Amino acid sequence: QTGMFTYDPGFTSTASCESTLTYIDGDEGVLLHRGYPIGQLAEQSSFMEVAYLLLNHELPSAAELDKFTYTISRHTMLHEQLAQFYRGFRRDAHPMAIMCGVVGALSAFYHDSTDIADPHQRMIASHRLIAKMPTIAAMAYKYSVGQPFLYPDNSLSYTGNFLRMTFGVPAEPYEVNPVVERALDRIFILHADHEQNASTSTVRLAGSSGANPFACIAAGIACLWGPAHGGANEAALNMLREIGTPDRIPEYIARAKDKNDPFRLMGFGHRVYKNYDPRATVMQKTVREVFDSLGVSDPVFETALQLEEIALKDEYFAEKKLFPNVDFYSGVILSAIGFPTTMFTALFALARTVGWVAQWNEMISDPEQKIGRPRQLYTGPTQRDYVPVGER
Ligand code: SDX
Repeated sequence: QTGMFTYDPGFTSTASCESTLTYIDGDEGVLLHRGYPIGQLAEQSSFMEVAYLLLNHELPSAAELDKFTYTISRHTMLHEQLAQFYRGFRRDAHPMAIMCGVVGALSAFYHDSTDIADPHQRMIASHRLIAKMPTIAAMAYKYSVGQPFLYPDNSLSYTGNFLRMTFGVPAEPYEVNPVVERALDRIFILHADHEQNASTSTVRLAGSSGANPFACIAAGIACLWGPAHGGANEAALNMLREIGTPDRIPEYIARAKDKNDPFRLMGFGHRVYKNYDPRATVMQKTVREVFDSLGVSDPVFETALQLEEIALKDEYFAEKKLFPNVDFYSGVILSAIGFPTTMFTALFALARTVGWVAQWNEMISDPEQKIGRPRQLYTGPTQRDYVPVGER
């Protein structure tokens, strides 16, 4: 049972759809994007290359990658009036609240690429969404800290541009740190797509009605925000900080096992993986590389490592097949780079936009595609007659 609804286009599978983008073997802890293992893509590829792969079925040649990257860079600017949109929010608005609003509003400014019947317009809308998410996310951060927005600098890489828009200020030159740029680009790769997760299923369901792509991605952002889904990266670091020192780990392990306690280990467990999430493996390795390279450390990383070690030896977690997922270590790196916890899910949304638009395109371009219409098992009252209020 995968997605949240059973869409049966004539075959008996419980699958929500057919797709060629991403394959997950939850028992074996395998994740492939169009056949390429996530570990190889994370170590050897770039986020722009993975975006091309997901959108165009094959890895690009050098020339194709240059052209794609250039095309994306032509859309990094945001309509100037959208900057006003931010000023309607309180400064302490959660970046995900801002991203839901701003992305949903894009259709009011880019309605020329909302004609979903036209493949060319669909691709322009896809490129716009991929290109503008870093600008939108960076502006949400700038607004929250009361600093001026920075325009994109297309001489930088996709990820370097985002770092500068986020951490640069007009008064100073900004130098992109290549170690940070590489680590963040790898984190974006790890979050790009993940089969029919809750937010991707939301995007597909919204898109199946013919809604414009900007509205569909806004729906995906809303779903991703939940702590059981993309919001777990923010919750996981907050949990690790609350645990503080390793001597308090047993207390939290006990709470996670207590059925009367709603507490769950954030960053642990998964609907599909009943083995180690391969993305968590890469993420943990990346923490070490970033810390070594920058000569920094964070006691929270040690707490996370010990929490993982203790949990994986515990029979409850073994029996329930609970392992660290992509969200367990990501916050440690993002915090080390300088992002506040409130930006973690916004970064997840930035990266997952590639998967969302690729999945949306795959669905919309299927001539057999029909509107999603989940059914239910009715367990309410059988038919009965109305009783006027005076007789109740
Ligand atoms: C993401 O779907 C995707 O692909 C999502 C994602 C993506 O890339 O899009 O991978 C991103 O959302 C990762 C998950 C991030 N969420 C968290 O880390 C939040 C903490 N995790 C849990 O809330 C939970 O594991 C879920 C929501 C992820 C899955 O919940 P399920 O469906 O209940 O998990 P399950 O069926 O495998 O649970 C089996 C048992 C249950 O207990 P019983 O009902 O059998 O008694 O394990 C328990 C659960 O209560 N359990 C946990 C637990 N996760 C599951 N107990 C303690 N701590 C946990 N983290």
